[in-house]
Amino acid sequence: VATFGAAQAQSDYPKRNITMIVPFAAGGPTDVVARIVSDHMARTLGQTILIENVVGAGGTTGAGRAARASNDGYTVIMGHMGTHAAAVALYANLSYKPDVDFEPVGLAAGTPILILTKKDFPAKDLKEFVAYVKANNTKLNMAHAGVGSVSHTTCLLLSSILQVKPIAVPFNGTGPAMNALVGGQVDYMCDQIVNAVPQIQAGTIRAFAIGTPERSPVLPDVPTTTEAGLPQYQASAWNAVFAPKGTPKEVTQKLADALDKALDDPAVRKRLLDLGSDIPGKDRRGPQALGTLVKGEIDKWTPIIKANM
Ligand code: MLT
Repeated sequence: VATFGAAQAQSDYPKRNITMIVPFAAGGPTDVVARIVSDHMARTLGQTILIENVVGAGGTTGAGRAARASNDGYTVIMGHMGTHAAAVALYANLSYKPDVDFEPVGLAAGTPILILTKKDFPAKDLKEFVAYVKANNTKLNMAHAGVGSVSHTTCLLLSSILQVKPIAVPFNGTGPAMNALVGGQVDYMCDQIVNAVPQIQAGTIRAFAIGTPERSPVLPDVPTTTEAGLPQYQASAWNAVFAPKGTPKEVTQKLADALDKALDDPAVRKRLLDLGSDIPGKDRRGPQALGTLVKGEIDKWTPIIKANM
């Protein structure tokens, strides 16, 4: 009877609101991607998806909360390359294991990384930026979203390539960090494209390079790091949905199907593409592909971080 009850409960899923934890501040890249895809997923699932911003410790506070939530499908998280890969190498006492304590649901978006500065940064291109940062690094403020976040990790890589030690200024997300960059209170940061496109287009900040092999179609004037003379800097992040370990397969599959449908929807695609996201093709979607990605990313980032700490 108990088994029948549990199975029936799963086939009824979802019967009430679902909470999607965003482990960074509202208005930042994780929040934006979460809101775009969850809005469509909610329509497919027939229930509201509430976004809860649980900030702190480079996203690991929210990820830890999600790992310990009830595994009934009513709490999920929009994690990313930081919370679910890079954090492993940066926190000796991380309260969760990204590849063990979650059921992967699916990749939501790829987000190339840009090297961004305040508007009046005294450089006209990446070469001048590099020279200026090397000459003045200990006086420059580099904004990031907490140890282990994407902005922190990808600027750690930049600092290591340039052999510099800027003043690292932490925020609860790159939403607030972007406000500080626009306001000129910080000098530069490494951030995900979805957070930067509106500001670059408005001319309130500057983008010196994108860390991917190709330029972005939404920022055709921003050179790749290879074109701009820093080919060693290759950086791209991703956002993905996870459920706590032990969430029934039928439930994660329903969530994965809803995410898949969202990523096929023309309006969702337009919103993500207009912000420079890379929308995963069918072969990169779903639980299995995400499980493989997480293991691969932990293996990729751990030696890079350990060598550069
Ligand atoms: C955010 O949403 O604020 C970001 O994903 C932060 C980051 O990891 O850099």
